[in-house]
Amino acid sequence: MRAAIILAAGQGTRMKSGQPKVMHALAGRPMIRHLLAAAEAVFDRIVVVVGPGMAALERAVAPHAAVVQAERLGTGHAARQAEAALAGFAGDVAVLYGDNPLVTEATLRRLLAARAEAELVLLAMRPAEPGRYGRVVTEGPQVRRIVEHADATEAERAIGLCNAGVVCAEARHLFRWLGALGNANRQNEYYLTDVVAQADAEGLRVRAVEAPEAELRGINSRAELAVAEAEIQARLRRAAMEGGATLVMPDSVHLSWDTRLGRDVLVEPHVVFAPGVMVEDGATIRAFSHLEACAVGPGAVIGPYARLRPGTQVGAAAHVGNFVELKATTLGAGAKANHLSYIGDAMVGAGANIGAGTITCNYDGVAKHRTEIGEGAFIGSDTALVAPVRVGARAVTAAGSVITEDVPAEALAIARGRQVIKPGRPAKKKDS
Ligand code: UD1
Ligand code: CA
Repeated sequence: MRAAIILAAGQGTRMKSGQPKVMHALAGRPMIRHLLAAAEAVFDRIVVVVGPGMAALERAVAPHAAVVQAERLGTGHAARQAEAALAGFAGDVAVLYGDNPLVTEATLRRLLAARAEAELVLLAMRPAEPGRYGRVVTEGPQVRRIVEHADATEAERAIGLCNAGVVCAEARHLFRWLGALGNANRQNEYYLTDVVAQADAEGLRVRAVEAPEAELRGINSRAELAVAEAEIQARLRRAAMEGGATLVMPDSVHLSWDTRLGRDVLVEPHVVFAPGVMVEDGATIRAFSHLEACAVGPGAVIGPYARLRPGTQVGAAAHVGNFVELKATTLGAGAKANHLSYIGDAMVGAGANIGAGTITCNYDGVAKHRTEIGEGAFIGSDTALVAPVRVGARAVTAAGSVITEDVPAEALAIARGRQVIKPGRPAKKKDS
């Protein structure tokens, strides 16, 4: 049995934010959820240490237990808050930092495997800029101690091996060490990192497992959040391409943690996939499109400059063209909405054609209403469909119509002022 304690009680002062640091999103979900996803694959039990008044964070970590660290007295103090929740637990316990969300399942497994050779193991890295990270002081394979940047001498700051912030030991050792921590240091905090010196003093083996900085970097500021986002995006793009999608200009495509792209999906430059998007095989998403919580059927063509909002389903081989916005709309197979339209709360039958400039007037200022357009219907350009309204199968609306009443199947509806011709009128006006 293995348990993990995730520390997330800090407000993250350097983020200058109204929400806890670990609630900031990476690829469309709170960073804590990324860490939990990796941890869930490896640990049987997870306890998250949160700060007071962080109800949204407690909800975000459910169903895992959350314990509150009432006072922020340091990472060692925070880890100790989980002791009661893990009472009676006898296996290995790892402590992870909520602000290090990029660590992978594979690296966590390597760390746990290293426990075979040492009583205490930790993850370390050699960052390009060691900056404020704690430095790992070694002697041969043994890690003697970790010195925090604030407490380090110049010589210690010159050490390139840095503490990534994951330690693992048997529960009985870990909680004994945590109980004996002091806070006589520059920051007057109970440092989790001091357990290393304790284990070393007890003559136990302490080993560092190294992993790339790309997955161990901490997030303390908005700038570091952006660096982490870039790393996650790179991973997601790689996975999308390995799955058979073509990203013509990968760096310009923004993916979410749950974006699903089928085989032979082609994504042109500058496309944003907000959470909840599935694109089926062979569809093309053209440049500058924005998709969120929607499904795109096989062979469909979206964009350029299209916006698919939540609840939209685009059928097989359907087309959604430039400056077309679909919201909570089902577009049937082979249907087309190619230019300058807003279609919301609508059902559009297979093969229907929505002319340029068509608008569903779905909102009357109080409630939303539905529009139904039958199979093979032809909606003339610049039609306003005042919902609730139905246009039957193969019916036609004349260009410029304001449709307020249902149109029967196969009928033609014309609802616009007639053109009036007054010969010579402009010239006469000028004379008078
Ligand atoms: C910590 C490590 C440092 C390491 C770095 C890696 C310590 C003392 N230092 O420094 O060696 O190189 O991470 O990124 O552990 N937290 C609490 N309660 C507290 C204090 C912190 O829950 O009282 C949480 C924070 O929310 C955060 C994590 O612990 O998720 C780490 O705390 P932070 O203050 O960011 O530590 P660093 O200074 O980055
Ligand atoms: Ca940190």
